[in-house]
Formats: sequence, structure tokens, C-alpha cells
Amino acid sequence: MYTKTSLISKKFLALLMMAGALSLTACSDSSDGSAEEAAAPKESTQMTNAMDVKQPEPSAETKAPLAEESDMPKVVEAAKEAAEQEVAAQVEKASEQVKEVVSAPAPAPEPAAVSGDKVYATCVGCHGAQGEGGVGPKLAGQAVDAIVDKLQRYKAGEQVGPLTGMMAPMASGLSDADMQAVAEYVNQL
Ligand code: HEC
Repeated sequence: MYTKTSLISKKFLALLMMAGALSLTACSDSSDGSAEEAAAPKESTQMTNAMDVKQPEPSAETKAPLAEESDMPKVVEAAKEAAEQEVAAQVEKASEQVKEVVSAPAPAPEPAAVSGDKVYATCVGCHGAQGEGGVGPKLAGQAVDAIVDKLQRYKAGEQVGPLTGMMAPMASGLSDADMQAVAEYVNQL
């Protein structure tokens, strides 16, 4: 969810910047005609206008004088509208996803449905296809209870051996049923 939110705000910012850039272009076309501002350096006029437009909610005072100068506000309005629509769509999408997650039924605990060999597929790389060991210690021949007990300790964040840092993340994703199933599988290897 956090990633989603920051993605939305990034997109929104990008669109706001686009709106700013458009207004800058529009200003350079129209600012020559402004008699009162002729004395001021052209660049600073553009900067000021761009700043005004960048504000998310321009007040009535900022909007009114701009509207008289050219069709620049139309461009800015269009860009802003597009940005708002984009954000609204993203927010709707995100909230729908949240609803889906919230309303999804919690997975029923069904130990029988967990297959040990599937769980062990993630362990093979380090403990060997036959539990003979490799990067990790030999598991073959260990008692089911002993394996479950160690997995629980890794999951709990306990320091078990010198390489616990490597093993703990593997155990942290296992449910009790996963542990039991994988231990039984390993025990039969
Ligand atoms: C990235 C390699 C790696 C993976 C993948 C991995 N392990 Fe381990 N495992 C280790 C290491 C290294 C140790 C020794 C950790 C220590 O020093 O505490 C270990 C230790 C263990 C131990 C304790 C063994 C003993 O005799 O003390 C068990 C049980 C175990 N792993 C089971 C599993 C299971 C089940 C999986 C798959 C869900 C798995 N491991 C996945 C590397 C791994």
C-alpha cells in the first residue's frame, strides 16, 4: 500500500510539473504584450506566473487576471483536470484493492492441504534434495519434532547457530502447518 501511495503522489507531482511547464511556455508567448510588466525582467515574470499556476488550489484572485491574458489558462486547466482525473482514478483503484483484500475470507487453517514437498522446494538449494546438507546443515535423519522446534526458534528470531541470519528469513514465512509438513517430509527423505 505504501508503494502505491507514493506512486500516486509521484504521478500527481509529475503532472503538476507538466502543468507548470505548459504555463511557462504559454507565458513566454503572451508576456510581451503586458505593458505594466515591461520594466520587470522577463524571466522573473515568467517565474512568478509559473509559481502562481503551480499552486494546487489557485484562489479566485490568481485565476481571474490570468484568464484575461490569453488561452494559457485553458491549457493549464486541461492539464490540471487530467491530473485530477488521474489521481481520482488511482485512488479509486487503490481503494477497490483494499476492499478486495479486506473482504477476502481468511484462509482456513487446513494442515492436510499443506504439502511438505512443495514447502521443501524452497529449501532444496541450501539443504539438498535428500536433506543431505549444503550451505545449510544436514536435515536428513533429524526427528520431526526437532526440525519443527528449530524452525519455530528461527521464526521467533532466536539465534540458533552461527548462520542463523541466513536461515531465519526462510522460517519467518512458514506457518505451523508448513513446518509440520516440511519436517515430516524431510524426516522421510
Ligand atoms: C539460503 C539458504 C537456506 C535456505 C533456502 C533454507 N535454509 Fe535452513 N538453514 C540454512 C543455514 C545456513 C542454516 C544454519 C543456520 C544457523 O547457523 O543457525 C539452516 C538451518 C536449518 C535448520 C536447523 C538445522 C540444524 O541441524 O540445526 C533447519 C531445521 C532448517 N534450516 C530447515 C529449513 C527449511 C525447512 C527450509 C525451507 C523452508 C530451509 N531451511 C531453507 C540455510 C538455508
